[in-house]
Amino acid sequence: MDTIEIIKSPGTKIKSVDWNNLRFGVFFSDHIFVSEYTNDKWDNGTIQPYGAMDIEPANCTLHYGQTIFEGLKAFPSVKGGVNIFRPDMNGKRMMGSAEAVCIPPYPVEKFVEAVKEVVAIDSDWIPKKRGESLYIRPFSFGTGNFLGVNASDTYKFIIILSPVASYYKEGLNPVKILVETEKVRAVRGGLGAAKTAANYAASMRAGLMAHQKGFSQVLWLDGVHRKYIDEVGAMNIMFVINDELITPALDKGNILAGVTRNTVLQLAKEFGMKITEREISIDEVADAHKNGSLQEVFGTGTAAVISPVGMLQYKGKEMIINNNKIGKYAQRFYDTITGIQYGEIEDKYNWNVHLDI
Ligand code: COI
Repeated sequence: MDTIEIIKSPGTKIKSVDWNNLRFGVFFSDHIFVSEYTNDKWDNGTIQPYGAMDIEPANCTLHYGQTIFEGLKAFPSVKGGVNIFRPDMNGKRMMGSAEAVCIPPYPVEKFVEAVKEVVAIDSDWIPKKRGESLYIRPFSFGTGNFLGVNASDTYKFIIILSPVASYYKEGLNPVKILVETEKVRAVRGGLGAAKTAANYAASMRAGLMAHQKGFSQVLWLDGVHRKYIDEVGAMNIMFVINDELITPALDKGNILAGVTRNTVLQLAKEFGMKITEREISIDEVADAHKNGSLQEVFGTGTAAVISPVGMLQYKGKEMIINNNKIGKYAQRFYDTITGIQYGEIEDKYNWNVHLDI
């Protein structure tokens, strides 16, 4: 394995963190990992103190958004040490995102090694409270300075770390989601399956308008028919209808292949549930709600973990789901996933990468 150079921070900011009010992604640890791509190759990388970066006004990413990111988490294990949840999945997905926007992929083994090293150096920043974790944010972007619309020749791959609480203020309590009927997040043949800034920029206006009306987020419909369900933007979406778990399939390339989505599908198989990955229309969901067969709706994501949906609003009509309560399936998935992450439940699938710290 490559040797990563380490430049230690002269001090620590850890005491400036409001540990009783972490929220999501507002505090950042002392160290970051930085690798540079020049002359057609990634260097070995350096761990260095967190701090401001020099960016020229002509930086191509500021203008054209050639950038991708990932999100994963590290947890304190009840058996001691640290569990990093499925970093190989994030490394692989990041390679796919890189390809979509012409960024040279960062190899998965180097990705996992860099994550392990930087988490180990800042392991004191891992929150101890149940429900909290150290969020790991790898990202990569073009560092060229030019105004032509073309890919950069040089890039950075960086990992920053943030101690976090739950993504939504509701925690595991049900959220309200607005079904977006006007704007679209992604289209077939576009960038919807890539974790790239464009998708998140495309979601902001609708997200803001939904927030102003008291919703946590919007549920996106497909860009062609405005009929089939895509995802929520910060999470994938799942429906339980007549005890069957239904979630949009990945084959259209317009939604993100979520790591938590994959985790839930594997666990659902183990639990003996019927699982279907297919197109599901908003009308089918509304019909199931009307005839009483819609038991649960929940989102899945690294930041959100499992987020039950208590109310969906579509064309002005409210669908209250499971009496706005956390459903038994959502609760079981949440308990099992977090149980594995904190080392309380056997990790049958070797999802955790364990650090003995
Ligand atoms: C994640 O779940 O890690 C995400 O990237 C979602 C969001 C915070 C953008």
